[in-house]
Amino acid sequence: MGKGTASRVLVTGGAGYIGSHVTKLLTKKGYEVLVVDNLTGGNTLEPKYGYFERVDFGDEERMYKLFKSFQPQIVMHFAAFIVVQESVVNPLKYYYNNVANTVRLLSAMHRAGIEIFIFSSSAAVYGIPEIIPVPETAPLKPINPYGETKAMIEKVLEDLSKAGQIKYLSLRYFNVAGADPEGELGPSYNQPTHLILRALKAATFKIPYIEIYGTDYPTPDGTCIRDFIHIMDLAEAHILAMEYLLEKGESLVLNCGYGRGYSVREVIAMVKKVTGVDFEVREAKRRPGDPPMLIADPSRIKTLLNFKPKYDDLEFIIRDAYAWEKRLN
Ligand SMILES: NC(=O)c1ccc[n+]([C@@H]2O[C@H](COP(=O)([O-])OP(=O)(O)OC[C@H]3O[C@@H](n4cnc5c(N)ncnc54)[C@H](O)[C@@H]3O)[C@@H](O)[C@H]2O)c1
Repeated sequence: MGKGTASRVLVTGGAGYIGSHVTKLLTKKGYEVLVVDNLTGGNTLEPKYGYFERVDFGDEERMYKLFKSFQPQIVMHFAAFIVVQESVVNPLKYYYNNVANTVRLLSAMHRAGIEIFIFSSSAAVYGIPEIIPVPETAPLKPINPYGETKAMIEKVLEDLSKAGQIKYLSLRYFNVAGADPEGELGPSYNQPTHLILRALKAATFKIPYIEIYGTDYPTPDGTCIRDFIHIMDLAEAHILAMEYLLEKGESLVLNCGYGRGYSVREVIAMVKKVTGVDFEVREAKRRPGDPPMLIADPSRIKTLLNFKPKYDDLEFIIRDAYAWEKRLN
């Protein structure tokens, strides 16, 4: 196997929403994938694609042994705790899993001689950005422990890279949404907090209404604006990222979004249109720490990875998410 190719990928968190879609795509493209997950997220079933080990990725000795036996060329690290509000009330849980365990994972990789890493970072590292659309060069000013954990690992990766111990891509996801258009996979959170998922729960009568947190933001309709990226475009970005790293070996930080925002009201209107259900919407106070606008500047990923989104359409995103939501009934 020469430079520029990989045949084996180890995916942490591959039973989860994003990891499972990426694993499916990797498998379809002919990669051998080992999924490591302890099934503490919403999905308690073994993943459909890839080999599977039920392991805590922070168990350094077990991870070291898996690295030595499976011999992946690359590690994609999705596993983490992900609920912003929970990170505010229980920060240790987040620093322990997202930071301390990730350092153990990196240590196991280093000992096993594996040096290529793709990290699931987040737009949460920007906090409340001053420039919209936000470029990767914007200062990192997270406003909650979840965002802090992502920024901390980015710093660790930067230092490891400077020391010549790792080549990495940090992918800063904006709002990931939608589901596998083939209907096999989708989000499986215990208590979804994401807007589209909440709205779909209301449209399928699993919750009585949804709330809009804040209608007095400095945006055209007063509600927050977000950049939603379809899960399959994000999955494709991971393949491009991996190929780029293997070919060029240059560490990078990249925004993953479309560069277009939709307000909370626009998203709710689209969910109503797609589902045909006029569910109840209540207006509530702002939540602390919600940036009014979060839109990616995607120029870097488009230029460097030649990223060409295929599903850049809110209606399409919601249709796929709705098809999956109906399967959960
Ligand atoms: N979903 C989004 O919109 C979004 C946005 C920005 C960043 N991210 C990041 O993307 C990554 C994946 O998010 P997701 O939405 O797929 O979440 P998810 O909860 O569906 O998946 C995470 C998976 O990690 C596993 N996990 C957690 N801790 C573990 C541990 N110690 N050992 C083994 N497995 C463990 C869970 O069991 C779960 O299956 C996370 O790092 C998240 O911070 C997600």
